[in-house]
Amino acid sequence: MARGLQIRDEEIGYNKNLFCIPKHYEEDLERVFIPHGLILDRTERLARDIMQDMGSHHIVALCVLKGGYKFFADLLDRIKALNQNGDKSVPITVDFVRIKSYCNDSPTEEISIVGEELSTLSGKNVLVVEDIIETGRTMKALLSKLKDNEPKMVKVVSLLIKRTHRSPGYRPDYIGFEIPDKFVVGYALDYNEYFRDLNHICILKEKAKEKYRI
Ligand code: HPA
Ligand code: MG
Repeated sequence: MARGLQIRDEEIGYNKNLFCIPKHYEEDLERVFIPHGLILDRTERLARDIMQDMGSHHIVALCVLKGGYKFFADLLDRIKALNQNGDKSVPITVDFVRIKSYCNDSPTEEISIVGEELSTLSGKNVLVVEDIIETGRTMKALLSKLKDNEPKMVKVVSLLIKRTHRSPGYRPDYIGFEIPDKFVVGYALDYNEYFRDLNHICILKEKAKEKYRI
């Protein structure tokens, strides 16, 4: 079973003043939780693992927007690097779906999936690229929609997976980091659309949740 890099419940992260943070977010953040460099290092290894398993056939990389876009771009860069430096290489094409399932720091009742015509995935090896899996509810809804289009194979990679009692136990095929049950932002993960423009994954201050609440 896939296990990502484990971040323990006791982990408090890092003093944000030791890192570069955009000025407009300085007062909103409590701590840096996963520095950008560590995200990229872990991503490089995920790219290698994925290519080892899937690297013999054309891959369609399916980005789950909006939260997945940074991880998607960096993961594909690492996969491209392997493709141009190794003895074997496969073509990668890309597709996008947009899913909205969060408002403030809580899941919404409705999961909306908008996107591309998914019938292009028929008969393909599909790699779904997601930012975070919490209950697995969003991913299950997406996977059932994908299955209707009869892809040849579907694998899921998630940068983060949260340890939570709310999880019914869904686990993706590849995991970047397994994190405690805290709300995190940055590296394209948002709070009501803010904080996507922040490189590090960080913990929000409670008063920032009030400030950006809708
Ligand atoms: N941060 C941002 N988006 C999310 C999270 C989170 O912790 N969990 C689910 N969507
Ligand atoms: Mg979100």
